[in-house]
Amino acid sequence: MGDKVKMTIPDFKKFKEEGRKFAYCTAYDYTTATIVDESDVEIILVGDSLSMIMLGNKTTVGVTVDTMIHHIKPVVKGAPHTFIVGDMPFGSYNVSKEQAIMTANRILMETNCDCVKLEGGVEMADMIAAMVKAGIPVMGHIGLTPQTATSIGGFKVQGGTPESAAKLIEDAKALEAAGVFSMVLECVPSVVGKAVSEALSIPVLGIGAGPDVDCQVLVTQDMLDMYGDFKPKFVKHFAHVRKEMVDGLNLFHKETVEGTFPSKEYCFNKAVDIPKLY
Ligand code: KIV
Repeated sequence: MGDKVKMTIPDFKKFKEEGRKFAYCTAYDYTTATIVDESDVEIILVGDSLSMIMLGNKTTVGVTVDTMIHHIKPVVKGAPHTFIVGDMPFGSYNVSKEQAIMTANRILMETNCDCVKLEGGVEMADMIAAMVKAGIPVMGHIGLTPQTATSIGGFKVQGGTPESAAKLIEDAKALEAAGVFSMVLECVPSVVGKAVSEALSIPVLGIGAGPDVDCQVLVTQDMLDMYGDFKPKFVKHFAHVRKEMVDGLNLFHKETVEGTFPSKEYCFNKAVDIPKLY
């Protein structure tokens, strides 16, 4: 800790040009943000995945802008050395360019995060161009787009046919032309990840998109094995934090019922003459 330098938007393109890979994970609260900030991970997403991970919902739809702002603010406080992305939730940018600009303005101004992220391909390009023209830094998100998962047939691998792979490349190019400075590419065959990355001069941030993209993204609770039994194929467990936490809680319970906790070192041991009032 101490020498981490916060990534800037020009760095995204620079890293791509230099072939320098970087890493991106989620955080939805202050404590987790401080932990990521202490690590080497360059980017935090306060994603609308908080709907499932933090709030116990089945999908990301239903999270409001107020809820996103509520979670982005403590993450910004906890991670001053990490680039922070605020996700725009479903329904907060699909009405009009004005709505999208106003929502993004609110997220940026009320939280002080570094950019917003939104989902969608070619169909969103005009709207994104308007946002960028208004001075908003925008990160795209194509491939499996959880907010519209129902319309694309559920949480499934995308780009699995030549036609759908070509469509993804078209989406990616349209977003780059519209002015996004990077884009998430979710759940596609590795060859598609490689092709999309090669087609662009901005970084492709892959989650389940294989090794040949510019950055790897994972949900922190997934990769640290905190979230329970659900594990998508693309998630590797880099630690087993859930087990560590359950073991710690059980030890606390055991020492409490046995009476070995708190021992003297955890007590205020000053002698006090207690008046006999009982
Ligand atoms: O909300 C989220 O966590 C995301 C990731 C899946 C990239 O959008």
